Amino acid sequence: MKVLGINAIYHDPAAALVVDGKVVAAAEEERFSRRKHGKRPLPWSAWELPELSAAWCLAEAGIRPEELDAVAYSFDPALMTTPEDTGLNDLGDTMRKKYAEMAPDFLAHALPGLDPATVRFVKHHVAHAASAGLAAPQRDNAVLVLDGRGEAHSHLAGRYTDGQLEILAGQALPHSLGLMYEELTDHLGFLRSSDEFKVMAMASYGKPRFTGALSELVRATDDGGFRTEKIDFTEFAPRLGKGDQWTEAHADLAASVQTRLEEVLVDLARWVHAQTGEKTLTLAGGTALNCVANTRILAESPFEQVWVQPAAGDAGTALGAALHVARELGEDTQPMPGAALGRGWTDDEIEQVLQTAAIDYERPDDVAEAVAEVLADNGIVAWFQGRSEYGPRALGHRSLLAHPGHEANLERMNDVKGREQFRPVAPMVLLERAPEIFSRGPIPSPYMLFVHDVAEEWRDRIPTVTHVDGTARIQTIDPEASPLVHRMISAFERRTGIPVVVNTSLNTAGRPMVDDPRDALECFGSAPVDLLAIGSFVVRRPTPTSRTRN
Ligand SMILES: [Fe+2]
Repeated sequence: MKVLGINAIYHDPAAALVVDGKVVAAAEEERFSRRKHGKRPLPWSAWELPELSAAWCLAEAGIRPEELDAVAYSFDPALMTTPEDTGLNDLGDTMRKKYAEMAPDFLAHALPGLDPATVRFVKHHVAHAASAGLAAPQRDNAVLVLDGRGEAHSHLAGRYTDGQLEILAGQALPHSLGLMYEELTDHLGFLRSSDEFKVMAMASYGKPRFTGALSELVRATDDGGFRTEKIDFTEFAPRLGKGDQWTEAHADLAASVQTRLEEVLVDLARWVHAQTGEKTLTLAGGTALNCVANTRILAESPFEQVWVQPAAGDAGTALGAALHVARELGEDTQPMPGAALGRGWTDDEIEQVLQTAAIDYERPDDVAEAVAEVLADNGIVAWFQGRSEYGPRALGHRSLLAHPGHEANLERMNDVKGREQFRPVAPMVLLERAPEIFSRGPIPSPYMLFVHDVAEEWRDRIPTVTHVDGTARIQTIDPEASPLVHRMISAFERRTGIPVVVNTSLNTAGRPMVDDPRDALECFGSAPVDLLAIGSFVVRRPTPTSRTRN
């Protein structure tokens, strides 16, 4: 059975392909179109499809559109109520519903040969749930989905038993923890449904002194759901415009909403544990990208394990919808093999691109050693290896790397990326060394979806990746799953004594992550990066950036 998954309705359009129950490809449209998040989540853009990523998924597997058994579209317009009934009064919903209803015809146009009758609508939160519960390695699990909104809900609680979903609770709109967080993002001068992670970063600078005032407005209910009443954020801190300087009150507001969110999520996790008694909780929905909250759920709920879909936002619903429909068609689906589900290139293909660009390059004996040498010398490295990541995090395939031992490297990395200086950068660490340096969050932590405490004696040794509150959002590197990255960090450790490197996504300000070799060369050419390690090749900048800065 061949099932193509499509996410298109709100944000992060993406496609995924499941063949005979196995995930063979998944990618976000932004990596192809080079437009961050693919599109803005506006009603009149709801028709836009992930055409390029869908076509690539099929080409990757050598499948023609007419050979597909089903297309799974991660939104069901039949479940949409009226703008008045949702309580959101979003008049754009009428347009979204119409466009979703027409999606089969749009898809048949985008993928010539496709039979529109093969398109099946999957409830948005069921698609999210499947992206967690069917993709996780633990076959039986409890599942929690929390996002801004789906058709008429913002939450799902359930359990997977032998691949079958039982829905236990669902919170109807207008109550939505995701929309509440988006409102705050907007209030703080950031871009809603895009920059929520900046609010999480800002929260660590503040004190949660307004949490008491929020506790009645945002609270869990006995039936597994919750209430989010309208909050007038101006009562706590004035509204900010884009780029305005924030104050202590803004950081305190961010900290208070973040803390209240965490408390409610822990309550929801406790409820679903009480209903299911499962050992593992799986999470999806945009709220599951909140790694501070994820760590708190693990620490304070009774679950032994928490597994989070790396593409927890709407992009992941393409994968979830495909897995769900594959199950409906009788397939025994397999857990996802990892996040490296996007495009990849052979060395021959990469060398061709380098030759076309007429750029000097070398083929070192071991690219891992060549990179470690530059990093140890405090250079910045663009790392392009293997298939690209599905989801918003760089996980060792399209990364910018640096030495974690120099405090100034935080500013340097944020300069490369044109980011706010309060934003942290994250460490990659050898799995076997992680317990000595990081605690509280889970180890292994392969997808950077939890925060950990940095051991006191290590904070001065890795200041670049130690956030203001003494935490770090780590990725552990397993030698079997990621042998090349593991070898590179080991080589860095031999030179410096530090089994950690700085890892942030390979992109410059406002652009999607680099995906193909030409993107990599363009990024390398325009950003102060010392070395591009691409496949087995390296491209060097003649003058080290550390020298040009001083
Ligand atoms: Fe969603």
